[in-house]
Amino acid sequence: MRKVIFSLVLVALLTALLLTACGGGSSGPVVGDAARGKELYNSKTMGKNSAEGCISCHNYNEAAGKNDKAPYTAGTGTRAETRVAGLSAEEYIHESIVKPNAFVVENYKEGDMYQKWEQDLSEQELADLVAYILSEK
Ligand code: HEC
Repeated sequence: MRKVIFSLVLVALLTALLLTACGGGSSGPVVGDAARGKELYNSKTMGKNSAEGCISCHNYNEAAGKNDKAPYTAGTGTRAETRVAGLSAEEYIHESIVKPNAFVVENYKEGDMYQKWEQDLSEQELADLVAYILSEK
């Protein structure tokens, strides 16, 4: 009888261990939060090198200013759908931030956009920014 109880306890313990190991981990896909992304996008400086934020170049729309430094933010979510064949809007936006030179928007020059966001920002911050820009249809 003792042996049976011992085995049952052992099985229960192992099951609990397995469940904790598989659930609740911090790995897995990062889910972006558009509201946090918007806040970040509109910050004056950002990232671990305090680089000038997105809005130092990207005006929201014509009413907010010129687009001589960078494309307008409004409408990017829609433009992103057809910018690069084979890339979804989300993939394109992510690529535009981490590898700005992979596709350079017409009328702008390679290297005009800050090049180090991938090193400066966390994966979560990048996901938040992508979620926000995606929502700017
Ligand atoms: C120093 C100026 C500058 C800063 C700062 C900047 N960008 Fe840009 N960005 C550009 C320029 C110029 C382009 C167009 C050229 C290109 O495609 O690289 C661009 C293009 C983009 C595009 C593609 C737009 C389109 O219409 O296809 C996205 C998305 C973008 N930037 C997001 C961001 C985000 C997010 C930040 C802040 C983390 C940021 N940018 C900061 C200059 C900047």
